[in-house]
Amino acid sequence: MDAADIDARLPDTYPMERAKACPLDPPPAYGRFRAERPITRITLDFDGGEVWLVTRYEDARTILGDPRFSSDFSTPGFPARLTARPPGPGTFIRMDPPDHSRLRRMLQPEFTRRRVEALRPAIDGIVTKLVDDMASRTPPVDLVDALALPLPSMVITELLGVPYEDREYFHETTKVIGNQSVDPRRRIQVRDDLKTYLDKLVAAKEAEPADDLLSRLGERREAAGVSREEVVGIATLLMVAGYETIANQIGAGTVALLENPERIAELRADPAKLPAAVEEIIRHQTVIDYGLRRAATADVEVGGRLIRKGDGVVVVVASANRDESVFECPDRLDFDREQHDHFSFGYGLHQCMGQILARAQLEAVWSTLFDRIPGLRLAIPVDEVKFRFDMFVYGVHELPVTW
Ligand code: HEM
Repeated sequence: MDAADIDARLPDTYPMERAKACPLDPPPAYGRFRAERPITRITLDFDGGEVWLVTRYEDARTILGDPRFSSDFSTPGFPARLTARPPGPGTFIRMDPPDHSRLRRMLQPEFTRRRVEALRPAIDGIVTKLVDDMASRTPPVDLVDALALPLPSMVITELLGVPYEDREYFHETTKVIGNQSVDPRRRIQVRDDLKTYLDKLVAAKEAEPADDLLSRLGERREAAGVSREEVVGIATLLMVAGYETIANQIGAGTVALLENPERIAELRADPAKLPAAVEEIIRHQTVIDYGLRRAATADVEVGGRLIRKGDGVVVVVASANRDESVFECPDRLDFDREQHDHFSFGYGLHQCMGQILARAQLEAVWSTLFDRIPGLRLAIPVDEVKFRFDMFVYGVHELPVTW
């Protein structure tokens, strides 16, 4: 450790606090870490273990793009809560090749641009209905409850091919699993019940295939060397990965827009800017707040530091996305920004599989919302909004809006 590492003014535990006055910006300490200690040892406050904290864009890309950094929970040094249950079969987000490649490859055709385009009319229809239902109510209305939570849940049921009569059960279940304020034992119970349900559903789809993702996985799985248990695990992963992230991206992104009304006006005046606007909101409001965790499987030198085999690493994508050496005036929400890849969807082997689908949902939300409810605004001052401090996924618990 060199002298710069013993800087008492910088926090020595992770995660760090945001400035309460700037809930839409990451913790202010990140800027100083990028400048002074871009790759540094830090203590995780949930288990007391030490890991490398990585805050700069270039170093984030190097590590996420290097397969010597493992995503497997069981790799020595992986930063995990001591009490965390190891992920079950099929949870390939927490696996390394060759298992990761085997499962991801089987799922890949389901998330192509062509497939998402085929889903777009259904997504647009769901968003229009949710927004119109919201507009027909007497404000204030909680946008999280009316739109941000039901949308991704409805899209996933559509994608997987969950029968209509079971969709209510599905929505209730996803709400519990995705809500970190619920007692963990209850969440585990609900997740186990869901696995039992999905197991039956996958068996039913295998017996009588339809035109949906689960049926196609059922048809493909034997040739791909994938078990039914793994297909159930994949379905659960899709629910978890594609629910809380989207819901909070809608929540945090909508607050960012409402706090920058000139950006809403810009978007309404030129709807062709929508894709660039969505991309910029995803960069600016990086909801993967905790960062991406890895463990080194070999000694690797990054940014002049030697990361040793068995060391844990946390790549703070929320910091990399505000790196001033890559993004000019990174704290500004700027739809005309010269496009540059951000890391909100990760990078490398594990880059988000649902990113095209995510963009389609967010485009539908931010075009429909301000078209149908042009006078939309926060119903309370922004500093009274309940932001999700201390959660793995950042966003808002509730978002009371009026018009
Ligand atoms: C705004 C919404 C979303 C955000 C911010 C997001 C973010 C991410 C990030 C950062 C990763 C990489 C994790 C890592 O490297 O450790 C990831 C992986 C993944 N995401 Fe997303 N995601 C979103 C939506 C979705 C949706 C809608 C789906 C599917 C329904 C999805 C499915 C997945 C899957 C399956 C992986 C694992 C990929 C792999 O390990 O190879 N995500 N996501």
